[in-house]
Amino acid sequence: MTRFFIETFGCQMNVVDSEKAAALLRRLGYEWTDDPEQAEVILLNTCSVREKPEEKVYTRIRQFRRRRRDQVFIGVMGCVAQLYGRRLLERVPGVDFVLGTQALGELPRIVEHLRAQGGPSIVQTRMSNRPEFLEISPAERRQRHVAYVPIMEGCDKFCSFCIVPFTRGRERSRSPVRILAELRALAEAGYQEVHLLGQNVNSYGLSHRIEGGRPLAFFELLRLVAEQSGFPRIKFTTSHPKDFMPEIVRAIEEYPNLCNWVHLPPQAGSDRILTRMNRGYTRADYLRRVQWIRSAKREIVLTGDIIVGFPGETERDFQETLRLIEEVQFDGVYLFKYSPRPGTPAARLSDQVPEEVKTERLMRLEERQREIQLRRLQRYVGRVVEVLVEGKSSKSQLHWAGHTTDNIVVNFEASRENIEGSLVKVEITRANPHSLFGRSLEVLR
Ligand code: SAH
Ligand code: SF4
Ligand code: F3S
Repeated sequence: MTRFFIETFGCQMNVVDSEKAAALLRRLGYEWTDDPEQAEVILLNTCSVREKPEEKVYTRIRQFRRRRRDQVFIGVMGCVAQLYGRRLLERVPGVDFVLGTQALGELPRIVEHLRAQGGPSIVQTRMSNRPEFLEISPAERRQRHVAYVPIMEGCDKFCSFCIVPFTRGRERSRSPVRILAELRALAEAGYQEVHLLGQNVNSYGLSHRIEGGRPLAFFELLRLVAEQSGFPRIKFTTSHPKDFMPEIVRAIEEYPNLCNWVHLPPQAGSDRILTRMNRGYTRADYLRRVQWIRSAKREIVLTGDIIVGFPGETERDFQETLRLIEEVQFDGVYLFKYSPRPGTPAARLSDQVPEEVKTERLMRLEERQREIQLRRLQRYVGRVVEVLVEGKSSKSQLHWAGHTTDNIVVNFEASRENIEGSLVKVEITRANPHSLFGRSLEVLR
């Protein structure tokens, strides 16, 4: 029996690609193992969005190679593979194949070839940018309960700090008919929650690269899947503010199975920095979108991403970002220090911010956001929420954990029966800055 091991870095798109890679290898009769020591094929699905996750990949390859010497084939896929291609072989010795983000379909052929004949390392990083989406069946998925389903891939926005347009290629949208068919099959197979994925879901159908079918706007797709997929909980990520429309809020208001959560990353609060970032909106544009979301008929949770220390960011610019988080009152924010990425315009700017300044700004922002979040999450105390149970809590085996419809993490006490995968009514008794705590009242289904 040939066993394979996959380690996944980066975003949910990579989680899906790892599931696809696993499905392709399983179709060859290979078996998944959680123990790299047992594997004959090791795959690293990589992320290059910041320097740190990239460095981690090199460390892991060296570790695997040191332990296993010649008896194992090591492959690198994902964004680091796409970015460096053949150069990766020079950077870290011991890699047998490099598979770009649009070459996943080649995986079985490459692995079978290497196992049969050995030979030099194989590199496949050609991009077609064709709107073709590799599909797997519900039974081939490893993620249970929550299904990630790509609706579009790639990015044409070219924010000046970001590597993604180079690693994922041009925006391509998937056929609405195929999306709906996959969602129905997943709902029938018992999945309770789906995340519609894309680097910019709001750009769905906007580019001319659409697989089959008639192009729809994103809000039209939302209405279609809300009406016809049979999914109890539908979430989507990531929304780019530029293409975010009031119709998206209307759709959420209208369909209870469209979850009340929007992830809308502002990145910065200063117009000068937003322009330098090439984000395509101003602070006022961003706040207008927040207004649409906040004035919805039902409460919608708003989260975002922010980068500190972008080249040329002054203390005054940073103050604008601080003011933005005060004004918006996000329910959650991912905060990042700017990390220069090879080949991006921002990496070439001469006014890079010193590391100590980035760290200090990050800490100030974190501290402020922590207070905001704690206060925001307090409003849940005493409320009854619906939680999809995803497993035991990371902190205690006595507690279960899951997400609400508005994507807040809840840990709760429950009887000992196995309720993983169920929807449960939970009464919230306590709020922490990043999660809620409560006790279960009733298992819904
Ligand atoms: N498409 C999404 C973001 C995808 S990347 C959007 O436009 O909103 C996820 C997050 O990583 C970004 O929101 C950004 O905050 C962060 N990020 C991207 N490039 C970065 C860089 N060079 N340094 C630091 N953070 C970065
Ligand atoms: Fe990167 Fe900008 Fe595209 Fe988001 S929109 S993936 S930040 S280039
Ligand atoms: Fe990372 Fe690529 Fe996703 S760079 S964040 S794995 S699109």
